[in-house]
Amino acid sequence: MSGGWDSVRAQAAEAAFCIRAGELAQTAASFRFDIEQGLKNKDVSSLRMLPSYTALPDGGEQGDFLALDFGGTNVRVQRIRLLGGGKWEILKKAAAPLRCAVYDFTSQDTPREELFDFLAGLVDSAMDGDTKTPCRLGHTFSFPSEQDSLKDAKLIIWTKEFAVPGVEGEYVNALLSEALVRHGFANVKPVAVVNDTVAVLLAAAYCMSPVFIGSIYATGHNVCYLESFEGKQPKMILNMESGGFSKLIPNEYDNALDARSEKPGEQRMEKMTSGRYLGELYALALEYCLGREKGTVPVFSAAELSGILSDGAENILHFHGIDGLSKEEYEEAEALAEAVLRRSARLVAAEFAGTLWHLAGSGMILPQSIAVDGSVYEKIPFLQAAIHDALVELLGSDSRKITVACVKDGSALGAAIAACISE
Ligand code: GLC
Repeated sequence: MSGGWDSVRAQAAEAAFCIRAGELAQTAASFRFDIEQGLKNKDVSSLRMLPSYTALPDGGEQGDFLALDFGGTNVRVQRIRLLGGGKWEILKKAAAPLRCAVYDFTSQDTPREELFDFLAGLVDSAMDGDTKTPCRLGHTFSFPSEQDSLKDAKLIIWTKEFAVPGVEGEYVNALLSEALVRHGFANVKPVAVVNDTVAVLLAAAYCMSPVFIGSIYATGHNVCYLESFEGKQPKMILNMESGGFSKLIPNEYDNALDARSEKPGEQRMEKMTSGRYLGELYALALEYCLGREKGTVPVFSAAELSGILSDGAENILHFHGIDGLSKEEYEEAEALAEAVLRRSARLVAAEFAGTLWHLAGSGMILPQSIAVDGSVYEKIPFLQAAIHDALVELLGSDSRKITVACVKDGSALGAAIAACISE
């Protein structure tokens, strides 16, 4: 043992993040079960199954739109020209982080007007100050929301540690319109709201086919899909809010993280998979290996976990106040980072398999793409490979029919498509 590191503890921590084949298949089956329960009676499923009031685009959509992408680490506003034929161009981009050293627009101390004024400020940049030309805005709002049309959405509950008061239970496009008017942009009309998973699926379907499942793997995590309702009503994309899936076996680090989160008991799947939490789980597990108090090892970013896999643990651990381990101990720290990431990928793959089984019904899984957007998926090749392996494990030869496609910037393109469809 050196630097307080205990190898027996390290092996136990690594094992706590392991999902064996049987448990993986059981998770995928439970996920399918919750989809099917949720379609019948939402109260008995851990999936919210929220209607989006849109199906897929046909690729012919055209026109100029503003796209606001709000719900991750950065807010992005883009002016997008849809050209039809699955083509588009970005005319202007504006972006800013929601939190930095000098401000935090996600905290419970932020008045809601300040948050929406911040969004309106970015619209101002993307519009180059043009307060005259009429412009329709599509809003990708990446939180669980209730809709009765594509036009607006009522926030049910904040997730991803957002805590701004006075927004839960409110219509977000109405709040945004008020802020735009306050900023002199009465010419910009928010005409559609979509979840980011829905936006990604719209964006993918605009340029590729067949694709029926959309997912975000970033700060947060969630999956949506196109439900056919067995032909009894028109097809519609349902936002499952799969981050709230709860038929899981959390370990002690999951439970410690959940207990100190903004919303204990909520979003258990998300807290085991998404970028907002992976580095925190790792820090908690390292504290156990080192015999340190909880909260004494600074939280890692998901990118740092990936860096540990590619470059070794020593340097990155040093930045988190951990030094002087032996070669074998650094290797154990690397194996632990790999275990945290691999579990995340396996759970996401289980959701994909459960959704594919639901789509197939009693028939065969059809060849298709699954559209995924998000920095965690895009920037951590290990996760892409681990999802692939888990799909092979779950689906066998059927996995060859499935392509998991990375749809970069799908959240913004999907918002523009939603604005177009909303007419
Ligand atoms: C959280 C939100 C969900 C969103 C996901 C990805 O899970 O509740 O709506 O899709 O993060 O951003």
